[in-house]
Amino acid sequence: MKQRCLATVFCLTAAFSLTSCTTVPQPQPEKTTPGVSSRQAPTVRPLAVLGAFQQEVGLLKDMLTDARTQEIEGIEFISGRIGTEPVVVAWTGVGKVNAAMTTTLLLEHFQPRQVIFTGIAGGVDPNLEPGDIVIAKETAYHDMGTLWPQGLEYGGVKSRLTNEPNPVFFPADPVLLAAAERAARAAALGSIELRGGERPPKVVTGTVVTGDVFVASPKRSEELVETLGASAVEMEGAAVAQICYQREVGCLVIRSISDKADNSAVMDKQLFYTMAAQNSAGLVVKIVTEGLKRGVE
Ligand code: ADE
Repeated sequence: MKQRCLATVFCLTAAFSLTSCTTVPQPQPEKTTPGVSSRQAPTVRPLAVLGAFQQEVGLLKDMLTDARTQEIEGIEFISGRIGTEPVVVAWTGVGKVNAAMTTTLLLEHFQPRQVIFTGIAGGVDPNLEPGDIVIAKETAYHDMGTLWPQGLEYGGVKSRLTNEPNPVFFPADPVLLAAAERAARAAALGSIELRGGERPPKVVTGTVVTGDVFVASPKRSEELVETLGASAVEMEGAAVAQICYQREVGCLVIRSISDKADNSAVMDKQLFYTMAAQNSAGLVVKIVTEGLKRGVE
């Protein structure tokens, strides 16, 4: 049985509340409200699309009209339009810290109305094959909490903005989630070459878990299914979702399977990377061009 009870919200106050001994006065931070930047908000807030690598957002980047590139803290942000939709695209680099840093810069400088993260993942649900797509109804860290002798008790740290404990599971933005499910139902995604032959990718709604490790272990994959109900594992999604959650910006993570997080994961990822990255980005294109439109009618 899925032991999701292990994943009850558990604040790490005790573990992380080491008080500072220094008497040096701390600078007083500028006061802002979550989700509201001190910078000038653009008149029409764009939809943001992030990926870990340039290839994962290349499809979206190439579709932008009136594209304009801005480099902020060394990170490129490309803004433009897809149809009538204002969109900003960037790639974060691999891992939670890179993802959080880019997302923070994004929210601060572009005030997007919503954020979609697209890319590849390891499939831990045994029913998923390379090329299949997971629309994340929620994301969670699989490497955060308290490590007891009997195992990891998942828990979220407090938001630095509100002092409220973050949840273990960051819920997807309901409007984006519905738009993604609608786009996946309505639009036939092209057939993909798989080990078992050619077929259209399966699209499921599930839980995507994030950690700073590439998982190539059947044992760990099983644990992620058992303890968190995971469908797929990757290295950025929950970090993007945490920043968005804390700033009250809607977020959705979409991942296409490049490997099964098992003994052959490293090799499979090389083999299926391009196909999976394009599949995930393909669904995001359909959300932007079709799914969102129908959602506002
Ligand atoms: N991204 C793609 N495959 C992955 C895996 N097996 N573990 C973590 N991140 C991944």
